[in-house]
Amino acid sequence: MAEPILKWAGGKRQLLDPLYARFPASYDRYHEPFVGGGALFFDLEPDAGTINDANPRLVSLYETVRDDPDALIERLESFDDPESDPDPTLPYADTTQRGRDVDNYYYQQRARFNDRPYTGEFDPIEEAALLVYLNRTCYNGLYRENADGGFNVPIGRYADPDWVKRDRIRRASDALAAVDVHGRDFEYVLEAADPGDLVYFDPPYEPMSTTADFTEYSADGFDRSDQARLLDVASELDERGVSVILSNSGVMYEPYADAGFNVDTVGATRAINSDGDGRDEVDEVIATTVSEAEWSGDGQRSLSTFDGD
Ligand SMILES: C[S@@+](CC[C@H](N)C(=O)[O-])C[C@H]1O[C@@H](n2cnc3c(N)ncnc32)[C@H](O)[C@@H]1O
Repeated sequence: MAEPILKWAGGKRQLLDPLYARFPASYDRYHEPFVGGGALFFDLEPDAGTINDANPRLVSLYETVRDDPDALIERLESFDDPESDPDPTLPYADTTQRGRDVDNYYYQQRARFNDRPYTGEFDPIEEAALLVYLNRTCYNGLYRENADGGFNVPIGRYADPDWVKRDRIRRASDALAAVDVHGRDFEYVLEAADPGDLVYFDPPYEPMSTTADFTEYSADGFDRSDQARLLDVASELDERGVSVILSNSGVMYEPYADAGFNVDTVGATRAINSDGDGRDEVDEVIATTVSEAEWSGDGQRSLSTFDGD
């Protein structure tokens, strides 16, 4: 069983059992159009299918993990403690692309990670290593970008951060080798999925209220029109004989029920909440086109092995 490489907002560890319970007893290929940290994908390790995300740096990381895990591990091993001094042999030892002072090694690496949005240049292995490093050393494992696409999460406080995670990268590499990786809008799945396949959609959640905004995954928002577009895509897949499972916030209960999906509310503890200092219980829904008679019914795994980091 593989595990996620990154902490990612909206990670689905806590929902794996109810999600698996709704899987059809058999299906052909598996598709995950909003893969994010890939909690379900890495746990499932499907034999064939596709994964996709609109975040280009995340997709590039997965391609690097699949194609060159050893080079990635080697690069990760070369990084220093986030609180140490900037490395004078590397770019941005004094100031960032935007002329901001660089205080320590973490902020230097953050500036290097932001080469793609600010200069258009990037080295895929370096960028992938920086994404993993920053994810493991930044505040609360958040991923957040400013309006220019610059990753802007401050340094975190960890006694002994482990950013190398060799075994996870090697296992993830094997899981990724079995599927096609795309970096497109979720609608690609209309071309990719065939009758008999299974699609799991885990979009940015529609906010429950203005104070519960879980939609900031990248500079591009995912708004109500995208939620409506997703519902249309899910319905079209259903008509073509593709099985569909979706998760979303509780406010989507009615739209999914009205579209004829089988919907249940599940209370899930979010891995990363909006203020970062606790774990809030929020309502989530799981909707599916799979009729209850076809559910596999059993959770295929135990949650106890996940160490939460
Ligand atoms: C809720 S997160 C997925 C979390 C994932 N299930 C996990 O376990 O970590 C939603 C993902 O959708 C991606 N996204 C946002 N808009 C998108 C779009 N139009 N098409 C595809 N992916 C999109 C975001 O980059 C983000 O990674």
